[in-house]
Amino acid sequence: MPLWRSASAKVKLLQGIPLFEDLSPRQLGQIARLAEEVEVAANKRLTVAGETGRELFVILEGTALVSTPQGRTEQLGAGQFFGEMSLIDGGPRSATVEASTPMHLLVIGHREFWALLADAPLITKQIMRTLSRRLRKADAAFSAYS
Ligand code: CMP
Repeated sequence: MPLWRSASAKVKLLQGIPLFEDLSPRQLGQIARLAEEVEVAANKRLTVAGETGRELFVILEGTALVSTPQGRTEQLGAGQFFGEMSLIDGGPRSATVEASTPMHLLVIGHREFWALLADAPLITKQIMRTLSRRLRKADAAFSAYS
């Protein structure tokens, strides 16, 4: 369900998200304009492994469960994001992500995502850092099994 709030209230909300720290007020205003704020019920599937996906999700409140086709699971909570992999390489969703609780999310579309990265290299840096951490964790889990 989409939510509507004033641009300044949305900027306040964005200031508390680690992904957006270090951004200027102008850049926060830009994100406030281009991101859609939504609320979803528990159990809502936000991405499905193998399907096409064209949005990045930033968690404002609530938790989500990531389940990979290899059987790994990961909980994501407030301040974390998901859905960046398909946006970056155009490939299918790598995992199914389902709301474990009612959630409050920011949804950023494909075109807006790339516009944001072009304008805010610090966001690119944060996303790259998260990708590296996720890869390291996946590698560690893989070597523990093999
Ligand atoms: P994407 O592949 O677009 O859609 C599913 C998302 O789940 C993926 O982007 C990542 O954001 C997230 N994801 C996939 N694998 C993991 C993992 N091992 N740990 C945390 N998040 C993951």
